[in-house]
Amino acid sequence: MPAIYAYAPGKIILTGEHAVVYGQPAIAAPVNEVRARAAIEADPTDPSGKVKILASDIGLDTSLEKLPADHPISTVFREVQQELGIDHLPAMTLTITSTIPIAAGLGSGAAISVAVSRALSSFLGSPLSEEAVSRIAFETDRFYHGTPSGIDNSVISYGRMIYFTRGQPLEILNNAEALTLVIADSGEKSLTGKVVHNLRTQIEIDPQRFDPILEKIGSLSQSARNAIEQGDVKQLGGLLNDNHFLLQQLGVSSANLDLLVRISREAGALGAKLSGAGCGGNMLALVQPADAEGVAAALLSAGAVNTITTTIPKSS
Ligand code: MEV
Repeated sequence: MPAIYAYAPGKIILTGEHAVVYGQPAIAAPVNEVRARAAIEADPTDPSGKVKILASDIGLDTSLEKLPADHPISTVFREVQQELGIDHLPAMTLTITSTIPIAAGLGSGAAISVAVSRALSSFLGSPLSEEAVSRIAFETDRFYHGTPSGIDNSVISYGRMIYFTRGQPLEILNNAEALTLVIADSGEKSLTGKVVHNLRTQIEIDPQRFDPILEKIGSLSQSARNAIEQGDVKQLGGLLNDNHFLLQQLGVSSANLDLLVRISREAGALGAKLSGAGCGGNMLALVQPADAEGVAAALLSAGAVNTITTTIPKSS
């Protein structure tokens, strides 16, 4: 039997990170230039039914039975088996590779879960729906941080730009104009769970200070949705700048992220902001296509460790 391969893209949050955890809307898009890949091969010579797991990018060379029950990969196996009603697994080797930087706000954890769910369900003969794959990736995201909003697993599973509000049906966003983004890695690792937890503590101490900021971010996401649907790229740029200011007020930016945001604006970006949990990780700049190269070069000269230029194509 030939190996089964499945893939999942990275993701970027355009507006609304953090506020989305508290019920405000947010916008996210897939980043297809980076991806996680899961490959599964049957091991018919092994009668033990052992599941070998090789994932050198995340330091795993083990078997399923040796992983803790709450490990994201164990969770994916359990959830897929439950979904398909399969008790006994045939022997197999799962190999996971990923070009999505870890702890950088690009959804590496959720993408691995999505790729593994897809590969495993196909290997077992019943590929799961996007909805089921998304639900499983949500379960595994709890491992990385206890209270995920669900935006990462949703955008990665559906592979489309989404307008997401916790607890409400997912909306696919149609953009009237293509959007070109330069994404830059600040080089500072950022653990989403830690940043979300720290912010929650601050909000609980001083809700009067933080709640209005979260609400402003929510209405900004609504305006950004209108700008995207009407193809007003310039207005969207201004909203990204406003969103960065509000994220600074939440205390989740960093000196490096602020520098990269400023440099990209000076190099001609229409707008720029940190993206994801913040306190390190990535930022994004919305650019005219002709300015992408110059903005990327300026970001690298200012200390970004890597840039990715991605285009969200105009909806047909
Ligand atoms: C992480 O990509 C986005 C956050 O809003 C957390 C979440 O939505 O679960 C910071």
